[in-house]
Amino acid sequence: DAAEKGGYEHYMRKEIHEQPEALRQTITGRLDVDAGDVDLDVSFPPGFLADVEEIRVVACGTSYYAGRYAAQLFEELAGVRATVEIASEYEFGAGRTPDRTLVVAVTQSGETADTLGAVRRANEAGARTFAVTNTLGSTVTREVDGTAFIRAGPEIGVAATKTFASQVATLAMLAVSIGRDRGALAAADARAVLEDLQGLPGAVQQVLDKESRVREAAQTYQDSEAFFFVGRALGVPVALEGALKLKEISYDHAEGFAAGELKHGPLALVTPETPVLAVLTEGSRANETMNNVTEAQTRGAPALGCVSADAEYDTLDVDFPVPDVGIVEPLVANVYLQLFAYHVANEKGRPIDKPRNLAKSVTVE
Ligand code: G6P
Repeated sequence: DAAEKGGYEHYMRKEIHEQPEALRQTITGRLDVDAGDVDLDVSFPPGFLADVEEIRVVACGTSYYAGRYAAQLFEELAGVRATVEIASEYEFGAGRTPDRTLVVAVTQSGETADTLGAVRRANEAGARTFAVTNTLGSTVTREVDGTAFIRAGPEIGVAATKTFASQVATLAMLAVSIGRDRGALAAADARAVLEDLQGLPGAVQQVLDKESRVREAAQTYQDSEAFFFVGRALGVPVALEGALKLKEISYDHAEGFAAGELKHGPLALVTPETPVLAVLTEGSRANETMNNVTEAQTRGAPALGCVSADAEYDTLDVDFPVPDVGIVEPLVANVYLQLFAYHVANEKGRPIDKPRNLAKSVTVE
């Protein structure tokens, strides 16, 4: 067991640290940066993606947050209307056009019963279906029209970490691919996104190199009453994922919000005992988010921020620098939130790799 953990005390920390390598595997051989093109090595019938009118992502847990990130990329890069639904809530409602809809199931294991159920309902309705998964030969791959593998390598810790990063990177490539197929994304714009993806492994490594800063912050704030995570745009799914990670492994109360919603309710909970962790990067409308963070600080809350390298927010209590990688900056910020969750849980001696009541793969609906 100790050998398998490669010198780390927990699989989760090992897997957090494997992210640069996992991301390299995710993108290797798939990017043609000069041409602004992507080859995800999926076989579709010709024109399969070109006339898609709508994308509906279905997923659970961390994969659902990867889907929320992706839906924004599908709209922005592929010019397709995209929604994301919790798989157990997914139905093919009236007014939809199944034959022009692509249903994308995001599932690390490929075995989550809720997600498989959604795929089956989509197939029955006549939609085209696609899977983004880490697991070769998994059930989902047999139920869909096409699959892209995220190639993150095995993940043992119940709390998903490296697979979230590789899912988002894969979905970003899919968004570029669809955008190019449909003529919605210019080569130069695609190239910029692919360059950001290429920079992702190195950017994540720079964050990992700052782990001691995150550990210090975790030690400072671990006894707080609750933790709030906020962001806007691409920062929202990352805030939600940051809160999920913390609650899963530390058992502390944590909630993620769209930063603009703080004032519509959650602000009532904010006190000096509730740190606010904010995504303040490119792609997350950092200035507006910071305004909301300031409202929380006015009520005494400590504020911690993941901040783009070229920005500065002097009033933060703790700032974590995020290298400049464009629309994947929020994904890099997420690595700080993973480390924060890990160190809070570790300080509390929690069974990090096997949190109570949770399973790596949930095969019942
Ligand atoms: C379980 C795991 C989560 C995971 C979710 C979806 O709840 O504990 O970490 O995100 O299932 O799993 P999937 O394999 O479909 O991505």
